[in-house]
Amino acid sequence: MRRGLLWAALGLACLLAAASSAAAAPGARRSLAQAAAAPASQPSAAPAAPAPAAEGGACCEQLAAIGFSSNLPVVVLDTAGQPLDTKGKDVPVRMCTCNSGQPFKDYEGLASASVRGTTSANATKKSFAVTLQQPDNKSKAARDGGSSAAANGNSTGKDDGLKSRSFAFLGMPADEDWILYGGDEVDLTQGMRNWLTYNLARASGRYASRTVWVEVFLVDNGAPLSLDDYHGIYIGLEKLKIAKQRVNVSKLVAPNLSGGYLLSYENDNIEAGDVTLGPIKGWDHPVLVKDPKKNATVEALAWLTQYFQAFQDALEAPDWLRGSVYMHKDRDGPLAAGPAWDYNEAYGLCCGYPIEGWDKQGVSGPGQAGGSAISPEGWRFLICADQERCQIDPTDGISRWYRRMWQDPRFSSGAAQRWAELRAGPWSDAQIDRMFTETTAQIKPAVLRNFDKYSAVLLKPWYSSAEQEWTSEVANLQSWLSKHLAWLDGEFAKQASSGNGPASVSPAAGR
Ligand SMILES: *[C@@H]1O[C@H](CO)[C@@H](O)[C@H](O)[C@H]1NC(C)=O
Ligand SMILES: *[C@@H]1O[C@H](CO)[C@@H](O)[C@H](O)[C@H]1NC(C)=O
Ligand SMILES: *[C@@H]1O[C@H](CO)[C@@H](O)[C@H](O)[C@H]1NC(C)=O
Ligand SMILES: *[C@@H]1O[C@H](CO)[C@@H](O)[C@H](O)[C@H]1NC(C)=O
Ligand SMILES: *[C@@H]1O[C@H](CO)[C@@H](O)[C@H](O)[C@H]1NC(C)=O
Ligand SMILES: *[C@@H]1O[C@H](CO)[C@@H](O)[C@H](O)[C@H]1NC(C)=O
Repeated sequence: MRRGLLWAALGLACLLAAASSAAAAPGARRSLAQAAAAPASQPSAAPAAPAPAAEGGACCEQLAAIGFSSNLPVVVLDTAGQPLDTKGKDVPVRMCTCNSGQPFKDYEGLASASVRGTTSANATKKSFAVTLQQPDNKSKAARDGGSSAAANGNSTGKDDGLKSRSFAFLGMPADEDWILYGGDEVDLTQGMRNWLTYNLARASGRYASRTVWVEVFLVDNGAPLSLDDYHGIYIGLEKLKIAKQRVNVSKLVAPNLSGGYLLSYENDNIEAGDVTLGPIKGWDHPVLVKDPKKNATVEALAWLTQYFQAFQDALEAPDWLRGSVYMHKDRDGPLAAGPAWDYNEAYGLCCGYPIEGWDKQGVSGPGQAGGSAISPEGWRFLICADQERCQIDPTDGISRWYRRMWQDPRFSSGAAQRWAELRAGPWSDAQIDRMFTETTAQIKPAVLRNFDKYSAVLLKPWYSSAEQEWTSEVANLQSWLSKHLAWLDGEFAKQASSGNGPASVSPAAGR
């Protein structure tokens, strides 16, 4: 469970929902401001792999043989008897998909899978990172000498005779790196908070991971597939990385070190192998270079450190968001927020800890924020503008960059203008209702199967049945969101008419 976040850029913003979680403090949370990021403007990344030879079907046949069918695509992972339950340990798997009538080509082949997440790595139902693989029958010398591996993937770096394989997994644009996100035990809608956020972000025209609901079978006992291997409902996600169909920024090519980068701001989520930069004066926590990791050279890290220090000094804001906040920077482009990632404790969930009211369901006065940490009324990024509300951890969730930018009428009125555009289009109540209606109908049978499998951790005593629990949790999410949108409509209307007038800066001017 990593932290949620939002994207922002120096031109316009739309503050959306309150987000997120924490690894160390159960329920610590964070804000979320959403802003339009400057679009990526340079070509990048590897070309799409050629479509592989016809394949698929094997998974559907095996599932039919055990009497399982789903209206969702199904993914079967077979570890040949190895446990797949330990974070960071790569397990070779055979993987196939059954598209269940969806218009995509099934995968059938090899992959490397591992448990991912921070707190969620300890949950009963794990989420997995999956890298697609294929046999590499070329000699090492041939790989080293030529461009052979580069177009279609790379050697895994291990001497396992495999190389990565780019494929349009579940119908998403081809790549080798994917995530099977299994939800968690906090968001009882079974992952709809992340689903919602990524789809709202994408609907606004910004990149966020695509989402494909699936059901997963994990065969880890070396035996043939059986119904006992059912592993629950998952969302197929794109791993965040620099690629044309993902974070579309230019490739970093020395000596020009100004981009592109995919970065994240973390607090307590630093893990072995992470590439960090800094220290940056005034920041408690480092910035991570997520991509490109391999050639984030000393020079590149020094360039970025100096860049962030200048940014920080210009804003005079001694800390930023809480954690797991992604940013990207194209070559010669501005720093831009996004992609949106990790909102499983957003939208009114959880406690507000360690912020005010954490022991009282987040109840507190409206203050400068307009509401408490989990209320649908209130700017989450302004919670700590009233210092007495944030005494337990005065630097947690403060979002000082956003607070500072919010003081600039070019930013706040730009955000109001962008908000109005989105609410008149892809973020309208009608569009959002339709998203919920279609998706809940589509996933309900799978959700109920998932509850059967995980009732011990999912079924709460205050609900009478799995169906009642899920229906209520989804309704709570929708109702919180709808109140929050209405509150934001009112606040942005005030911004738009607050003497700053309509945005004095066009979206383009912010780039
Ligand atoms: C990626 O960015 C380049 C340069 O702006 C653009 O030409 C290309 O269409 C983008 N690709 C995608 C898939 O958005
Ligand atoms: C997960 O469990 C391990 C072993 O019990 C423990 O050391 C670790 O702190 C736990 N991690 C989280 C994030 O709860
Ligand atoms: C390597 O694999 C490819 C495709 O599977 C095949 O066409 C080729 O003949 C193989 N080469 C060797 C040296 O085995
Ligand atoms: C393959 O790996 C090499 C060296 O690690 C790297 O320079 C290259 O960009 C990689 N190619 C792809 C397509 O990822
Ligand atoms: C990163 O690696 C690529 C391919 O190896 C290379 O062309 C590029 O110059 C490297 N970038 C930096 C900043 O070293
Ligand atoms: C980086 O390359 C761009 C062209 O893509 C150029 O306009 C810019 O001046 C270069 N910056 C540096 C620091 O070399």
